[in-house]
Amino acid sequence: MQKNSILIDVQNVWKAFDDNEVLKGITMQVHDGSSDVILGRSGIGKSVLLKSIVGLLHPERGSIHVMGEQVIGMKNRDLNRLRKSIGYVFQYAALYDSLNVRENLEFPLRKHTDADEEEITDRVLEQLRLVGLEHAIDKMPSELSGGMKKRIGLARAIIKRPSIVLYDEPTAGLDPITAREISELILSLEEQFGITSITVTHDLECARIIANHIYILDDGVFQHHGGYEELKASDDPYTRAFFQVAV
Ligand SMILES: Nc1ncnc2c1ncn2[C@@H]1O[C@H](COP(=O)(O)OP(=O)(O)OP(=O)(O)O)[C@@H](O)[C@H]1O
Ligand SMILES: [Mg+2]
Repeated sequence: MQKNSILIDVQNVWKAFDDNEVLKGITMQVHDGSSDVILGRSGIGKSVLLKSIVGLLHPERGSIHVMGEQVIGMKNRDLNRLRKSIGYVFQYAALYDSLNVRENLEFPLRKHTDADEEEITDRVLEQLRLVGLEHAIDKMPSELSGGMKKRIGLARAIIKRPSIVLYDEPTAGLDPITAREISELILSLEEQFGITSITVTHDLECARIIANHIYILDDGVFQHHGGYEELKASDDPYTRAFFQVAV
């Protein structure tokens, strides 16, 4: 893959649920190595867009190319293959409650790779070290704090070394200090592993820390986009409303 090539290319995508038009011709291009952030009100379609990019939802119109492959209309077998290269941090910490931390981390490796038992053990330990939670290896999700669950969610999303990671509100529900630690962890993991990402967040501090580029979603399309400082200085009332929440 060429440097600066487009890894995620969303063109004129439309998605409705009955008469609820959510995405109305949305377009976005994420370059290799970039960390792009989406801001937008609750219920505006941010999660719908992420789910469409991994083929969990099926837009009616438009095209979504991920690493050059068209996702819309893709067969399940091909989707499963493509998803090996994509990590997804779900909005609601989607750890398996009946599995302990070790088993939660092993899951994607067993599902998506041919790693043998020794490699699996090594990789799980390495991931836990990266997120600072080696001591939690035998804990059940119910024994973890919200911040610990988010860290394990990150570890699980990147354990198979994906090229792309989609984060849906990775700092939601955390105190500002823990939220900042998670944002810095995301940044450091992305730099370490050369990850290209899209992050949906309401946390402007997170956007400031991780974003190369920020998109503002409203009424089914990106109304504005740009760098953090550029958008912060914007005259647009909706954009201003977002940035004023932060101060
Ligand atoms: N599977 C579904 N079936 C029907 N409607 C859906 C489905 N998923 C999402 N929607 C609708 O699509 C709209 C956008 O939802 P989405 O979850 O993308 O919002 P969001 O921007 O992620 O909000 P939040 O910030 O609260 O997470 C909402 O009106 C929601 O009810
Ligand atoms: Mg959402």
